[in-house]
Order: sequence, then C-alpha cells, then structure tokens
Amino acid sequence: MIFDMEKPGGRESYNLLIGLVAPRPIALVTSMDEDGRLNAAPFSSYNYLCTDPPIIGMGVTNRPNAGFVPKDTARNIRRTGEFVVNVVTEDLMQRMNVCATDFPAEVNELEMAELSTAPSHVVKVPRIAEAHAALECREFTTMEIGRSRIILGRVVSIYIEDRFIDPAGPYVRAEELHAVGRMNGLGSYVKTRDSFLTMPRISYEEWKQGKR
Ligand SMILES: Cc1cc2nc3c(=O)[nH]c(=O)nc-3n(C[C@H](O)[C@H](O)[C@H](O)COP(=O)(O)O)c2cc1C
Repeated sequence: MIFDMEKPGGRESYNLLIGLVAPRPIALVTSMDEDGRLNAAPFSSYNYLCTDPPIIGMGVTNRPNAGFVPKDTARNIRRTGEFVVNVVTEDLMQRMNVCATDFPAEVNELEMAELSTAPSHVVKVPRIAEAHAALECREFTTMEIGRSRIILGRVVSIYIEDRFIDPAGPYVRAEELHAVGRMNGLGSYVKTRDSFLTMPRISYEEWKQGKR
C-alpha cells in the first residue's frame, strides 16, 4: 500500500510513522512551571541528535482537538528553559504510563505514579529518584512546526547509577540497564533484557581481508 503523506489527516501519519520509526527510546521528562510546580510526561519522539555539543531532541504535539494549546511539558520548557530526561527502564514502565494520563495541569503526575524526586546536579528541575539514569537539559531552541513543537535540549549533566557504568570507557552497561522502547500507538513496547547481540564495525583493512 502507498499512503499519501501530503494530504491532511494527522492520525494516519501518526499511526504509520510511530509504527515504522521503532523501537524508540522513551524520555520521561520532568519539568517545572514558573511557580515550581512539577510535571512529568513520557515522549518517544525522542533521541540524541549530536554529541558535540550534546543535544537531544523531542517532538511534542499540541493537545489534541484544542487548536494550538501546548502540552504542559512544552509550555514549562518554554517558560523556564530547563528539563530532565529520565531514562525509562523495565521497572519504570507502569509508572511511566500513569504519567501519560491527561491529568489537569495542577495535578502532579509523579504523585499519581508514586514516583519520588531527587535534586538534579545543575538544573532546578529534579530528576526522578527511581530512574537509574537522567539527562539534565537546558532548552537550546524550540521550533514551532504546525501543531507541534520540536524541542532541542543541551545536555548539561548526566546522572547514572554507578552500577550501570563501566568506568573503562566510560561506557553504559546497557545490557544491565533494561531500557524499553515504544513500538506503535497501540500500547506495544519492547524490552531489551536478554536480547543483546554484538556486532563490531568492520575496518576497511578487515574488509579487504574478507571479513564480513
Ligand atoms: C510511551 C509514550 C510516548 C509518548 N510520546 C509522545 C511524544 O513523543 N509526543 C507527544 O506529544 N506525546 C507523547 N505521548 C503522550 C504524552 O505523554 C501525553 O500527552 C501527556 O499527557 C503529556 O503530558 P503534559 O501535558 O503533562 O506534558 C506519549 C505517551 C506515551 C505513553
């Protein structure tokens, strides 16, 4: 089948794109409004975009059927310029899902999900204490595109529990972190536990010697 992506009809492009650009990491983003009220919500249109400087990006759609009303996360980041990406691992999945519930702005999703906070190292917004890793970010820029915002964040500090760091690199012990990925809009996810394989890159010298 061929789908014409140039004709309007947001739901179709949403359904197809989020099923095909997958699996995606999930950022459970903590942010604060000007009065210090905390907010948490998951975003899977998320990735790192470059490392020098360290920039991550995420796409936040405006509230459905509400014209141009931004989600609380996008509004907070625009107003206070800071946020924290908490890495979603298997043990946090259910609580991450609670944070995606469309609570009124004054409700703290972290309380609803029974998650607690710990102070961040650099930014005012706290990280989620139960998350094993978190990226502290300052808003680099926000692009408004149609009914969405693409938010770029500069990573200013990274927290990782010691047990998940191999100091030799340093590398992340990703096989032990058990991060999860989102697969589509039907509530499908993938776990990474026991599903690692290793495939080192091939140098040109090795290629010439026949290595594949
Ligand atoms: C796993 C998962 C990933 C999500 N990814 C996105 C996303 O990339 N962009 C988006 O706008 N909403 C996404 N959502 C929906 C938001 O989390 C949801 O609209 C949330 O209520 C927004 O909260 P806020 O208004 O407190 O920012 C996702 C939901 C789930 C469960």
